Amino acid sequence: MNTLILSSSLSENSRSYLLCKAVEQELVSKGNNITFVDAKEIPMQPFHREKSDQMKALSEQIEKVDNIIIGMGVHCYSINDSLKVLLEGCFGKATGKFFGILCAAGGERSYLVTQHLTQICMNEWRMMQLPRVVYATGKDFTEDTITSKEVLERIELFSEEFHTIGNKLLA
Ligand SMILES: Cc1cc2nc3c(=O)[nH]c(=O)nc-3n(C[C@H](O)[C@H](O)[C@H](O)COP(=O)(O)O)c2cc1C
Repeated sequence: MNTLILSSSLSENSRSYLLCKAVEQELVSKGNNITFVDAKEIPMQPFHREKSDQMKALSEQIEKVDNIIIGMGVHCYSINDSLKVLLEGCFGKATGKFFGILCAAGGERSYLVTQHLTQICMNEWRMMQLPRVVYATGKDFTEDTITSKEVLERIELFSEEFHTIGNKLLA
């Protein structure tokens, strides 16, 4: 199974990036091919401007992979701006693909925000979501390490289910 993991935060201390890396490790250990894309390395232009080569490359990678995992940070009770730019600019060929969401937030009250991403992916490209989200807040980390036992368990479960269902959808 070929999976693209998109870490969409531009923060140098991104916690959603750490979630993406943890899931990458789990999926690699199960034998999956992972293309890891870090938004920090993509010069971004909004929709009506010329796309950078890196944005064009991401569009092509999205077309080729079997499924996609998106790491997001919560900004103003919604998805972060860089993710919105990448969705609008690069997800045109994501139609029908299976996807999963890994989310970092400042507090526990924003957990429904992942539904904004669900709405966009399902309504715009008829993508199908793994019905399990990894949601973590600041207290789940110690500096750049995930220390919450509960979040680590959810990462394991998310990865196992993504692997199993993702492979079944290929059959
Ligand atoms: C501009 C901005 C707006 C934010 N708004 C929210 C919010 O509405 N709810 C929340 O729980 N956290 C909010 N946060 C906190 C982030 O979700 C948190 O820092 C998270 O770790 C961001 O993901 P990242 O570390 O991968 O960039 C906000 C942070 C920023 C910078």
